[in-house]
Amino acid sequence: MIDKKAETQVRINPLITSRWSGRAYDPQREIKREQLLAMLEAARWAPSCFGDEPWRYIVCHSPDDRQAWQNLLDCLSEGNQQWARQAPMLILVMADTLFSHDEKKNPWADYDTGAASISLCLQATALGLMTHQMGGFDTDRARQAFAVPQRYRPMSVIAVGYQLAKERISDDMLERELSERRRRPLDERFYAGRWGEKIS
Ligand SMILES: Cc1cc2nc3c(=O)[nH]c(=O)nc-3n(C[C@H](O)[C@H](O)[C@H](O)COP(=O)(O)O)c2cc1C
Repeated sequence: MIDKKAETQVRINPLITSRWSGRAYDPQREIKREQLLAMLEAARWAPSCFGDEPWRYIVCHSPDDRQAWQNLLDCLSEGNQQWARQAPMLILVMADTLFSHDEKKNPWADYDTGAASISLCLQATALGLMTHQMGGFDTDRARQAFAVPQRYRPMSVIAVGYQLAKERISDDMLERELSERRRRPLDERFYAGRWGEKIS
């Protein structure tokens, strides 16, 4: 198993350091129903503006519904398809662009949906699964393939599965999987009291 724990400047919760977006999935290991429900439950408990819960998820698990899974795979960019075809589960993530209480525009829908998605990914990590979110997909095609009503916006596709055993990963894929994880220093993105002021 490849362990790509984040090297953090400050000690943080190991669940956060353990999540990483791998591409080498084991196509033979499916996701159990209770694992899926736990991931969705984690997303369900994300906070949202007005408690609107603007997120929607369509789960496509290859062993349960090969056609739905294939339909979503076909929406991905060429580069993403190359590796995501090994993931047994693909999830289409959408945001409701309108508030349900007054049908007015919800400017926080994308923000809330992203929060739900990272909760889902962290719960998957806690269950020993790997996730990889993708923006590289054809949103119009996904809308059509899954009959997504106009007010909902396709935001991402999340691949879910078990990591492929290291010895079974091809050399070129392995190089990519082992590549260093990087983040900019804290001070470059996080400020104290005013724009650009160092926090640390
Ligand atoms: C909204 C979003 C869209 C992304 N789109 C893609 C994508 O289309 N293809 C891909 O290989 N990775 C994609 N990624 C993964 C990022 O490249 C990855 O999260 C980033 O490099 C940090 O790596 P880490 O998740 O392992 O920490 C996406 C991530 C997010 C959050």
